[in-house]
Amino acid sequence: MALISNEEINAIRASANIVSIIGSYIPLTQRGKNYLCVCPFHDDHSPSMSVSEEKQIYKCFSCGATGNVFTFVSEYENIPFIEAVAKVAEKCGMKLSDSTYKSNVSQTFKEEHEIMELSQKFFQNNLRTNAGVEALNYLKKRGLTDEIVKEFGIGLSLDSNDALMTLLTKKSYDNKKLLDIGLINNVSGKMYDMFSRRITFPLWDKDGNIVGFSARIYRDEKNVSKYMNSRESKLFKKGETLYNYHNAKDYAKREKAIIVVEGFMDAIRISNIGIKNVVALQGTAMTEQQISLLKKLRVKVILCLDNDNAGLLATVNNGEELVKHDVETFVIRLSGQKDPDEYILANGNEAFVKNVETPMTFFEFKMNYLKQNKNLENVEDLSTYINDVLKSLSASNDEILRELTLNKLSKDYDLSLDMLKNKLNGLSPVESTRSVSEPIKEKTKKDGYTIGMEKILYFMMNGEQYIKEYQCKLGFFAEPIYREIANEIVYFYEENKAITVADFITYIVTKNEIKGKVMEIVNESVNDDVTMEAMDDYIKAVMKIITKNEIKRLKNLQKSELDIYKKMKIAEQIRELKKEDV
Ligand code: CTP
Ligand code: MN
Repeated sequence: MALISNEEINAIRASANIVSIIGSYIPLTQRGKNYLCVCPFHDDHSPSMSVSEEKQIYKCFSCGATGNVFTFVSEYENIPFIEAVAKVAEKCGMKLSDSTYKSNVSQTFKEEHEIMELSQKFFQNNLRTNAGVEALNYLKKRGLTDEIVKEFGIGLSLDSNDALMTLLTKKSYDNKKLLDIGLINNVSGKMYDMFSRRITFPLWDKDGNIVGFSARIYRDEKNVSKYMNSRESKLFKKGETLYNYHNAKDYAKREKAIIVVEGFMDAIRISNIGIKNVVALQGTAMTEQQISLLKKLRVKVILCLDNDNAGLLATVNNGEELVKHDVETFVIRLSGQKDPDEYILANGNEAFVKNVETPMTFFEFKMNYLKQNKNLENVEDLSTYINDVLKSLSASNDEILRELTLNKLSKDYDLSLDMLKNKLNGLSPVESTRSVSEPIKEKTKKDGYTIGMEKILYFMMNGEQYIKEYQCKLGFFAEPIYREIANEIVYFYEENKAITVADFITYIVTKNEIKGKVMEIVNESVNDDVTMEAMDDYIKAVMKIITKNEIKRLKNLQKSELDIYKKMKIAEQIRELKKEDV
C-alpha cells in the first residue's frame, strides 16, 4: 500500500485556501488581512480564532490551538491526519494518486485487520445461508429491518466448534495471531472457535476498523451467558471503544447532540427508527477514554441509560464525570420498560422521539434525584437536600445555572439568598479537567533570550534566506528543544528545497517531542512582519545573552581555578568576549 508522498501533501495544501476550508465549517469575518471566528476547540463565546490567509495558518488567542488546514480538518472532524489530507484534497477537487489512505493504526495492524474483515465476511455470509434461517428469524422477531442488519454487519457463528478456525488456518494465518486477537480459544491444548451458536456483532474502533466481536445467543439456551465479547487484545480495548462511534459522529455533529445508551441492541434499535447519533457504552461504566471521545465531538451528550437502579446510579456518576469535563450533559429517564429497545417496541417510535426532543439538563435530573427518599417537609431532610444541591452546583462552571438555582432555592424554601451564596462560595469548586487537545496557554512571561530564540526559529520557517542567516551567524542553540527544532527546519528545507510555515506544520505533526513547542511558537508569531532586519535584531540579542552567560561562566571558573597560568588564559578569553559584546 503506497502512502501519499510529502510533495503531494504539500501540493494539496498549496491549492487549498485555509480561509475557504475553515469558512465551510464556521462563519468567518474579515478583519484587515486576517479573518476571525469563534474557536471550535474550546468553549468560546467571543471570536478568539484568527485565520491568516497569507500564512495559511489559524491560531486561537485563548486556548492556543494552532495549525494549518490539515490539522484543522483533522481536529474539527476528529479524523486521522491522513484522512484530513484526503478530505481537503476532495474539497478542492484534487484526486489523490493513491486512494488507499488509512489511519496509522490500520497500517500497524494490517494483517490483524485483514483477519477481522475476513471473519466478518464469513459471519455475515452464514446468516444468509440455510444455517442462518433461525437466527434471521430471531432478528426479524426483534423488529430489525434487513437494512439495519446489513448496516450493523450482524452475522452468525455456526453450530460448529472450528468453522472459522478452519477457514483462517487454510489462509495460513498464524495460530498465535488468531489467539491473540481473540478469534480462537485454546482449551487444554486444543483450539476452538471463540464464537459458536451465536449472532455476531462486529465492534469497531473509533475509526471504523473492526477490532472484535460481541455475540448473543438466539435460542433458548440455559446456563450460558447471553453475550460473549472478544477478549481484550492489542486491537480491542473495551474501555476505549464506544459502540457505533465511527458511524454516529457525523450525525452527532449535524444534530449537535449524541445519545449514549447502555446496550448495543439499544443503539441498533434507535438507529432502526432513524436516529443515527447514538453510541453504546456496552455496560454502565463510562471510562476516561470514552469521555474524551465524547468531548471531542463538542456536542451535547444525552444519557439514556436503562430504567433500573444500576442505570440510575450510572446516570448520576457518568453525568457528574461529564460535567466535570465541561461537557453539556442532558438526561432521558424512560419509564415502564427496562431499556430503550423495549421502550420503543412497547410505545412506538414517536414516544421515543418525544423523549429525545425534551431531555432534562443533568442538573435538573440531579435535583430530582437528590429529592428521592426525602421528606422535604422534614427540616433535617430539607437541610441535607439543600446542602446536596449546593455541593453539586459547586461542580458547575455555569454562572447562569448557579444564579437561577440559588434564586429558586431561596424562593421555594424561604431561605436568604445571601446565606445560600455564601455557602456556595465556601464550597471548593471542582477543577475542570481539560483534554490534551485543549492546551492551556502558558501564562508565564518569557525572558528575552527565550523570545529571541523562538522568533529566530519562526523566521527560519519562513524561507531559505532566514535559514542561511541562522547558519551563518548562529548555527547552534544550546537548549536541546530549540536545537532539535532548528535541525528539523534545516532538514525539512534540504529535503524540499523550499519551506513555508504551513508545510513545516504538516511535517512536524507526527513529531510529538517538538510539535507542541512549534505550534506555540507559530501561535505567538504568526502575525509578525518577517524581515531580515528583525531577524538580525533577534540574532544580535540572542548572541549578546549567550556572550553574557559565557562571561559569567568563565568568571566563576576563574574564581575556582588555582593554576595561575590557566587563570590568565581565562582572563584573556573574558577580555575577547567583552570586546565582541558591544
Ligand atoms: N453485556 C455483556 N455481557 C453480558 C451482558 C451484557 O457484555 N453478559 C453488555 C453488552 O454489551 C450489552 C450491554 O452490556 O449490550 C447491556 O446489557 P443488557 O442490558 O443485559 O443487554 P440488552 O441490551 O438488554 O440486550 P438484549 O436486549 O439483547 O437482551
Ligand atoms: Mn434489551
